[in-house]
Amino acid sequence: MTDLINNPDASRLIFGLRDTGYNFKTAAADIIDNSIAANATEVHVRIDLRQDGRKFVYFGDDGHGMDTAGVHAALRYGSPERANLASLGKFGLGLKTASSSVCKRFTVISRKNPGAPLAKLAWDLDHVEDTGTWEMLREPVEAHEQEAWDELCGETGTLVVWSKCDRLLSKHFDEPGGARELAAIRRLRVGLKEHLGMVYHRFLDAGDGRQRLVQMSVDGEAVEPWNPMFPEKSEQVLSDAQQVIDMEGVDGDGGGQARVRAWILPHASSLSDAEKRQARITNKGQGFYIYREGRLINPGGWLGVFGAHGTFEPHMSLLRIEFDFGHDLDEAFYVDVKKSRILFDPAIEEHLTTLLRNARREAENRYRRKERERAAGTGIDHTPANTSINGTPNLKKPVVQEADPTAQTATVSNAQGPRIKIAGPVHNNVSPAAVHVAAVDSITTGELWVPSFRSTTTSGHVPAVELNRHHDFYQKVYLRAASRGYAVEGMDLLFWAFAVAEIEYSNAEMQPIFTDIREVVSSNLRKLLRDVPVAQPADVEDDVEAGEE
Ligand SMILES: Nc1ncnc2c1ncn2[C@@H]1O[C@H](COP(=O)(O)OP(=O)(O)OP(=O)(O)O)[C@@H](O)[C@H]1O
Ligand SMILES: [Mg+2]
Repeated sequence: MTDLINNPDASRLIFGLRDTGYNFKTAAADIIDNSIAANATEVHVRIDLRQDGRKFVYFGDDGHGMDTAGVHAALRYGSPERANLASLGKFGLGLKTASSSVCKRFTVISRKNPGAPLAKLAWDLDHVEDTGTWEMLREPVEAHEQEAWDELCGETGTLVVWSKCDRLLSKHFDEPGGARELAAIRRLRVGLKEHLGMVYHRFLDAGDGRQRLVQMSVDGEAVEPWNPMFPEKSEQVLSDAQQVIDMEGVDGDGGGQARVRAWILPHASSLSDAEKRQARITNKGQGFYIYREGRLINPGGWLGVFGAHGTFEPHMSLLRIEFDFGHDLDEAFYVDVKKSRILFDPAIEEHLTTLLRNARREAENRYRRKERERAAGTGIDHTPANTSINGTPNLKKPVVQEADPTAQTATVSNAQGPRIKIAGPVHNNVSPAAVHVAAVDSITTGELWVPSFRSTTTSGHVPAVELNRHHDFYQKVYLRAASRGYAVEGMDLLFWAFAVAEIEYSNAEMQPIFTDIREVVSSNLRKLLRDVPVAQPADVEDDVEAGEE
């Protein structure tokens, strides 16, 4: 029967497990989950770049620590199941898979009893490859490790050391340990601090009683909590009864309760600069913030709720959903090994869609109202383009013979013939500063621009262009361009020239084709700009600075 035992190939498997989809930040958080599960009150991270380009990451905690047997079990792929199921650990893999995704050698040094010697064991992937066996390394504690222990750990606690960090930075540097690599490490540090501040904000915030307090630092700088719900200024819109979701167990398991709260953030235009920095309102920041046992595992995104339309629409950027569950619902939410992904099954997806419908509508309304106010308030100035067009005598453009505001049609003499009837917006009594080019609220077809016929009185209409103030191009590109000299005028003239050329070549046969073209252009632009955030006042200011450089 021995031929039925088929042990994994140590080298192939240990290397294969490097690519389980971690990045530096998620891997680091998996190590810190273990510290929190070990009841640590302090967790400190240090990232070292040596002069020769070698990189080390140290994670120290003051948790309950382990003896030698404990370290041995901890380093086993598939560690024993934890006694406390509510702890952040679950699969017995995190320490190993997270570490090896970043480095080829990871060491655990730990002490369970004050005064006892440090227990130390390590995996080295090169050693496993050389020997072809699941053999760890037992070596004395090195000076740099002892130093890190003294600095980062408590009386008891655990130090995890990542060395041979071949995947810490995504790039290789010509000059190892040089200024550019140092700068990359600095960015990594900032990114990690931010990530930890978000993921563990309930643990880091002394004012948040939901989790016990844990202090963290990265290279000596304290990690500050960041609560994405921004409760100081946001409004939670679900009633107490709506906040509880009773989940059935899977395969006869007990099931449990999830909790959901819907927060509508204030629009950036009503926040101070400091508040804006705190709220961090971005397109990608909308959606579900999923917490498992109080630890954030999914920052934003709609996870299929609200269908494809729910994917990062700018007008939903003020809605953040705080969603909580415990380990008892891991099965129900299909938690993955990295505990960074969950799935909603169709029944819960439907429940959430209904539950959150009003919150969504309210968030959208608030956003749109503010955007309208702002677009009106920022008053993008289309006067220069109108002045230029007025002052340029030899422009090639069709002559409008009559325009009928009731029927919304005009008769023109153009390249197609003398009396060509064209449908399009007709506006009387407009300001001279908006007779050729105007931004309007009245376009409901989604088109970015439409050719139109405008007059400062009730006759003598000119061929003109109307721009859709609600199109993403207007909201994202025009609003940003507003601070940049001639950019608005240039775009105005371009759209005017398109519109006038269209009127020049339009007739009953051509008009639907031109309309189709405008629709395709407008819809492609909307898709292309989907991930570009709507210009906030701060962007406009940044742009001014960038423009002056
Ligand atoms: N900082 C630590 N302090 C004390 N014990 C630890 C520490 N880190 C790891 N351990 C021990 O090592 C074991 C293995 O950790 P590992 O992260 O691989 O698995 P896990 O946390 O149990 O599950 P998961 O795969 O979900 O992370 C843990 O169950 C714990 O007993
Ligand atoms: Mg773990």
